[in-house]
Amino acid sequence: MKNDLPIGFFDSGVGGLSVFSKFRKLMPAENVMYYADLKNLPYGNKSQEELIGFARNIMDFFVSQNVKAVVIACNTSSALAYDSIKNDYDVKIYPIIQSCAKVISQQKLLKVGVFATKGTVKSKAYSREIQKYNPMIEVCEIACPNWVSIVEGKLSDNEDIKFHAEEMLEFNPDKIILGCTHYPFLLNELSEYISKDIFIDPADIFVDFIKKDLVENGLINGIKERGSETFFVSAEPEEFYANSKMFYNPKSKPILI
Ligand code: DGL
Repeated sequence: MKNDLPIGFFDSGVGGLSVFSKFRKLMPAENVMYYADLKNLPYGNKSQEELIGFARNIMDFFVSQNVKAVVIACNTSSALAYDSIKNDYDVKIYPIIQSCAKVISQQKLLKVGVFATKGTVKSKAYSREIQKYNPMIEVCEIACPNWVSIVEGKLSDNEDIKFHAEEMLEFNPDKIILGCTHYPFLLNELSEYISKDIFIDPADIFVDFIKKDLVENGLINGIKERGSETFFVSAEPEEFYANSKMFYNPKSKPILI
């Protein structure tokens, strides 16, 4: 295994940039690729079968690019596709939910709220993964089907954000996980109803987990310069470029594949 091989990140759209940008800051020497599956966005309302198909296509693409690891920077795909594909590839795969649940479950919490897509909530992946490590934690998962469209700039609906925020406050959570990589981009809007410090952005825990695991497995790129970055989309390259600038500022335009 050559340590300078790239790491592939994927999500349905710009949401995974919340993970990608933190990883870039933490491990700037790594060569990285980001794939936004805009052709199939939103993932949140797709069937498990469809999500497994999308994940396989993207994994096959990244394998053809000779990556050393793949980061599933998408909660919905981690919840519904990861288990079915995890043994089929010869590269490290990091799914966001499964990678973060242990750390979250070790915090002193009794009630944890989760905002996520319909698919993630239906799968109960957050409840299952957190309670696997700490069965005493009560988990309340709330689906917010419109929020991805709000972040992708296709919808503007503050009433919807208020509605789900109030719904969550009835549960009286100690912490709330932003269980979709798009949602951290709504933190300002959410903070009108819920204090910012209650939210957990799993991306912070996730990038630390990936770094630790790369180190443990001797997979770190030892070169000191800043690594390369390449963006790919399955549709709408101009839209991705315009939207992504709000969150990351990519150096190059995405390649349509
Ligand atoms: N951002 C993804 C997630 O973390 C998927 C959102 C979507 O496409 O519905 O779940």
